[in-house]
Amino acid sequence: MRTLGLIGGTGLDEWGASGQEISADTPYGAPSGPIQVYNFEHVRLLFLPRHGRDHQIAPHAVNYRANIWALKQAGATEIIAVNAVGGIRPGLDPGALVLPDQVIDYTWGRQHSYSGGSGSALQHIDFTSPFSSSLMAELISVAGIASIPLIEGGCVGVTQGPRLETAAEIRRLERDGCDVVGMTTMPEVSLAAELGLLYASISMVVNPAAGKGASVIDIDEVERCAAAASEQVRRLLQTMLNGPVQASSDTT
Ligand code: HPA
Repeated sequence: MRTLGLIGGTGLDEWGASGQEISADTPYGAPSGPIQVYNFEHVRLLFLPRHGRDHQIAPHAVNYRANIWALKQAGATEIIAVNAVGGIRPGLDPGALVLPDQVIDYTWGRQHSYSGGSGSALQHIDFTSPFSSSLMAELISVAGIASIPLIEGGCVGVTQGPRLETAAEIRRLERDGCDVVGMTTMPEVSLAAELGLLYASISMVVNPAAGKGASVIDIDEVERCAAAASEQVRRLLQTMLNGPVQASSDTT
């Protein structure tokens, strides 16, 4: 039986009827809330809403270390994260679902490592390919079965938030090679790598990034788009959870 962590983001703060709950504590403090456990035929699902059940924790204030630690402690060996992003690359319009394969970190001041603090050994990890190719391949194949368009690959730039970016900041990200911009993929994906967990992100484009749309970003519209996109993500994940066992023995 595989144990899959699912980190819900904006638009996906709950998975379903509340199931069994694990209230974890970690050496790094409390995670964003209790982990909800759902048992499927072939998968034990551990759901954790990144921003808390009431969506009250801002991206820069999320205890990423506690979240990843708690999921590992509860048995997860792989994580699928759902992240809301703005679209930078032409064609990545609101409603698109992207599976990024690269990341650039523009965040600052976040507790971003388990390594080298008091009492913990200094550990360097290889981070050439941050996202799990086997989990991405599985999601692509499930998306085909569910007839949900999923764009494979792309670079996510991760900004500090909680404010959105200026148009000049987005032009800089574009020059750097970012296709989408979000606030939560880092340090989540690197902490998962430090603990040896496979990680993939389903990034939902919920607005054109600053300066890329016809007008300024309409926050109400962002929320409406996040709600609609997360229904697609839910359908995608339900297809995965109800489907046959997928080999997930790869280590990348
Ligand atoms: N920028 C950063 N994070 C985001 C955005 C954005 O435009 N949209 C949703 N999350």
